Amino acid sequence: MRSIFVTGSNRGLGLGLIKHLVQSSKPPEYIFATCRNPDKALELKEIAQKSGGVHIIKLDLTDIDSYKNVVKVVEEKLAGRGLNVLVNNAGISSKFARLNYVKEKQLTEAFMTNSVAPILLAKELLPLLKKAASNATDKKSMSVERAAIINMTSILGSITENDQGGFYPYRCSKAALNAATKSMSIDLKDDGILVVCLHPGWVRTDLGGKNAPIDVDTSIQGILSTLDTLTEAQTGCFLQYDGKMLPCSFFLDLVFRYLKAIRSCANSKNYIYIYISIFVRM
Ligand SMILES: NC(=O)c1ccc[n+]([C@@H]2O[C@H](COP(=O)([O-])OP(=O)(O)OC[C@H]3O[C@@H](n4cnc5c(N)ncnc54)[C@H](OP(=O)(O)O)[C@@H]3O)[C@@H](O)[C@H]2O)c1
Repeated sequence: MRSIFVTGSNRGLGLGLIKHLVQSSKPPEYIFATCRNPDKALELKEIAQKSGGVHIIKLDLTDIDSYKNVVKVVEEKLAGRGLNVLVNNAGISSKFARLNYVKEKQLTEAFMTNSVAPILLAKELLPLLKKAASNATDKKSMSVERAAIINMTSILGSITENDQGGFYPYRCSKAALNAATKSMSIDLKDDGILVVCLHPGWVRTDLGGKNAPIDVDTSIQGILSTLDTLTEAQTGCFLQYDGKMLPCSFFLDLVFRYLKAIRSCANSKNYIYIYISIFVRM
């Protein structure tokens, strides 16, 4: 890919992504690394100073009115070329809470950052993404080399996988992002823009906490390898950092449930349970 736009690039997975992109054998020519407070983004600034391709842009996702100006800056830098990839990475999470403790503010803030902002930013960057898709030499296939939107979601946004409850702001806002991913993939298919949502794994960052089993490098290495393999077959899907497909459609969801049910009944020989568990959960 020649150009990429990443939100929340000053720490955690966003910063890791910028680091890996810069160090890759073929770094993108334009890396638009956005963050709320560039003055305080010391590590990011150091990377940008060493690499001519990294452009730091101030962007607070809650300031929707600023999107147009941000896009203008990107457009000027690209000088007539399109944008290949948008990574909606920035996200927030509040502490685990059961229904009794959930607060309106937590819900609205999570929806704003985790679902509203990625949708409206994709909308604003769409002309540039379309330009990249239509300028591509290969206009038949979909890939991150051509044009793509990558929405950083979480397994906690999967309705199928929710067996612990709680986490209302985070789960609901990520589930909404997953739904938006599916709609975008349908709406943008004819434009040749690939759209997926990615679960980065449970990663040691401020958001993931220190008990998370994987580090930023492992997650980002996996994400970059997975991005390279994406084609039209995956558009609209929910993938894990290592490329594993998570339930993304009704059909796949059904297959997942079926396999889970078979596994849980393997020893009991109570095969009727398989059918009950599929249809009850439908
Ligand atoms: N870590 C995990 O285990 C895990 C698991 C599943 C999914 N994810 C997802 O992966 C993404 C990155 O997470 P992370 O672990 O890297 O989190 P993190 O270390 O907490 O970093 C979050 C990033 O989002 C930015 N951000 C938050 N609100 C913003 C806003 N209004 N405008 C602009 N930027 C904003 C933060 O900027 P500031 O420094 O200015 O706050 C920061 O750069 C998130 O979408 C998260 O939901 C993470």
